[in-house]
Amino acid sequence: MESLKGKIVFITGASSGIGKSCAYAFAAKGANLVISARREKIVEEVAKDIREKFGVKVYTIKLDVRNREEITKAVSALPDEWKGIDILINNAGLARGMDKFYDDDPNGWDEMIDTNVKGLLFVTHAILPGMIERKFGHIINIGSIAGREAYPKGAVYCATKHAVDAITRSLRMDTIDKNILVSTIDAGMVETNFSNIRFGDPEKAKNVYKGLTPLTGDDIADAVVFCASRPAHVNIAEITLLAARQASATISYRE
Ligand SMILES: NC(=O)c1ccc[n+]([C@@H]2O[C@H](COP(=O)([O-])OP(=O)(O)OC[C@H]3O[C@@H](n4cnc5c(N)ncnc54)[C@H](OP(=O)(O)O)[C@@H]3O)[C@@H](O)[C@H]2O)c1
Repeated sequence: MESLKGKIVFITGASSGIGKSCAYAFAAKGANLVISARREKIVEEVAKDIREKFGVKVYTIKLDVRNREEITKAVSALPDEWKGIDILINNAGLARGMDKFYDDDPNGWDEMIDTNVKGLLFVTHAILPGMIERKFGHIINIGSIAGREAYPKGAVYCATKHAVDAITRSLRMDTIDKNILVSTIDAGMVETNFSNIRFGDPEKAKNVYKGLTPLTGDDIADAVVFCASRPAHVNIAEITLLAARQASATISYRE
């Protein structure tokens, strides 16, 4: 196992769910963090708590991954001691709604495509040149089972996560001679704020996980840490994690 101690890990969407769990999991391994999201106050609270609990360094950035200019500025304004990003976790993302395509609200499409696809591209494009220059880096994308299978009433969210899969594969080819690893962690049902955002209704969100035990953000963070800490000659291309009672995107066993 490679040590993560002292590595610099940049995480998007660290104010909630999987991204926040990743922040704690990497800090527990001694990594220093650059954590970001739009909700600056929450990110700062997370940073304070992590510094106190683990004694690592944490730098915070208010960042909307849809805003290319904001990303470019934030990355180039990083103080020298934070410029050497070793690991990028592209986690920020969301789903909006779950309706048949013809009933779906196109405003949600813009938000999903701009965040899940273009946001991931912009952040990666801003951070990758430094990794190439330093001849080291690991990019870990948070994909989804929705990037492996399409399901009904999920055309656009599934399309964005299929895009994440395609970007991951293509980027791995483009950086193969640069000592840069590219991986995707694809999860099934994870109980975070995801379903609240998707449905805008706590009851509907709760029903997603009814009758089974879903994955937690910490389960996904475990896999991300595993992926980031293999020996130098190993690349984990992809990991798919499902809840124990989930067989596919659409088939689950509920008691
Ligand atoms: N939960 C699941 O079942 C599941 C399954 C597979 C994959 N995933 C993927 O896992 C990732 C994290 O989701 P989660 O389940 O942890 O949901 P979550 O609890 O809702 O967290 C989403 C995070 O993304 C951030 N975010 C959203 N839009 C953003 C933007 N425009 N700019 C910057 N940050 C933004 C949010 O922060 P702010 O609102 O503060 O900006 C928040 O920190 C997503 O990519 C999601 O697609 C989730």
